Amino acid sequence: MRLVITGGAGFVGARVARLALERGHDVVALDDLSTGRADAVPAGATWVEGDVRDAACVETVLEGADAVLHLAAAVGPRLVAEDPAGTWSRNVEGTATVVRACAARGRRLLLASSSEVYGVGPDADAPLSEDDPCRIDAAGRRDVYAISKLAGEALAFAEHRARWLPMTVVRPFNLVGPGQGGRYGMVLARFAEAARAGRDLEVYGDGLQRRCFLHVDDAADALLGLLDASASEGRIVNLGSDEEVTVLDVARRVAARVGRPRGWRHLDFERVHGEGFPDPRRRRPALDRLRSLLPTWRPSRTLDDAIDDVLAESLAS
Ligand SMILES: NC(=O)c1ccc[n+]([C@@H]2O[C@H](COP(=O)([O-])OP(=O)(O)OC[C@H]3O[C@@H](n4cnc5c(N)ncnc54)[C@H](O)[C@@H]3O)[C@@H](O)[C@H]2O)c1
Repeated sequence: MRLVITGGAGFVGARVARLALERGHDVVALDDLSTGRADAVPAGATWVEGDVRDAACVETVLEGADAVLHLAAAVGPRLVAEDPAGTWSRNVEGTATVVRACAARGRRLLLASSSEVYGVGPDADAPLSEDDPCRIDAAGRRDVYAISKLAGEALAFAEHRARWLPMTVVRPFNLVGPGQGGRYGMVLARFAEAARAGRDLEVYGDGLQRRCFLHVDDAADALLGLLDASASEGRIVNLGSDEEVTVLDVARRVAARVGRPRGWRHLDFERVHGEGFPDPRRRRPALDRLRSLLPTWRPSRTLDDAIDDVLAESLAS
């Protein structure tokens, strides 16, 4: 298969590119390097520097492609808080260009949305399922990103109905692992960077917010599996882990590994990202649909494995 990966120089894109090459696929990585790094693109992939909002560029890259994994986006709470209009442009206009080009050529499309589309719901016990309502608000500062992702989903569904676009929408929940930068607010990457610099880890709020972290290599495996799973066409699929931990627990595990048993401090989340930028208390995916589509897939790495991999990379650099 010849696979185009938009955002192929980013955290997830570079890892999927690596796995796809290992499995014998041809890979084209398209990225404008706004946050990605060209040296992250694995050897063996065809590298194209370009913007997914540029229709001519996307059309050229799609020639001869069998499938597209659309990952290019503005990602991360800090980036969204700093540049909401740029986030909208990259995520809505970029996704529209890719969706339309795939629809015109009948290319298989896997579209990366986000668990952010569920919004900041009540601290309910039930895991978030694909059929749950999206509690997002056009006036919410955090929700620019979620709405931009939901807009992409809506266009993909429209083209699926109108032109039989063979697409799947994937909603990842908190992916972690080597290659993720902490600059835009990703928690484990931030902790690893602080540990490397000998600084205290910064825990937002009380640290009791709960998250489920999936190693990026397990995510890459699932993404390639979903591309092949024709039963996933026209569907939304959560992607994540159901190993739930508090952010404070992640800080403890990182601090313990770097030998600083109480090396963290608490910061108010809204003071960091500005007022009206809430931090969800809980985010846990329902994974029944993913498991039914990929019955043999299961994460092969734990959160501790991810922490070890991230610290090994961070402390080595
Ligand atoms: N990492 C996570 O935990 C997570 C969770 C939910 C959803 N996602 C989604 O997965 C995808 C990949 O996320 P990531 O963590 O690898 O982010 P990332 O920022 O590392 O990668 C995104 C890549 O897209 C590129 N890009 C941005 N705008 C572009 C444009 N206009 N044209 C071409 N390239 C452009 C960036 O340079 C970057 O390399 C994104 O769509 C994101 O919304 C990620």
